[in-house]
Amino acid sequence: VAARRFYHEKVIDHYENPRNMGSLDKNDPSVGTGLVGAPACGDVMRLQIKVDDNGNISDVKFKTFGCGSAIASSSYITERVRGMSIENALKIKNTDIAKELCLPPVKLHCSMLAEDAIKSAIKDFRKKRGGEVIHNESVA
Ligand code: FES
Ligand code: FES
Repeated sequence: VAARRFYHEKVIDHYENPRNMGSLDKNDPSVGTGLVGAPACGDVMRLQIKVDDNGNISDVKFKTFGCGSAIASSSYITERVRGMSIENALKIKNTDIAKELCLPPVKLHCSMLAEDAIKSAIKDFRKKRGGEVIHNESVA
């Protein structure tokens, strides 16, 4: 694969064995869906989370139409947020993802897509709940 020459091995690993690829039922009231695009290249990422009664992410799936770094960033973030409280998931920065995957500066926007996607999924979940407060005592 020509891509091997350009991507770090961690990116290749996530790209070749993506974790948590797929979909969750977007009509499920405990599921939040985030759909975001990168204006820089037109790539699109969909990330879905299922949130339990304690406000923790119990399941997560993604579908990404984009480059290797975008797929790796989504795969990585799904592993990272599983079991996490939505509050903590909101704190994940694209720079953390980029650092973990050793993304070069030109690929930073690919990790931005993952940060935007998780934020947008959480926003959708909260909107569905209509401001209903979810108590969260866990420290993930
Ligand atoms: Fe979008 Fe990389 S430019 S696939
Ligand atoms: Fe655009 Fe990666 S998301 S090049």
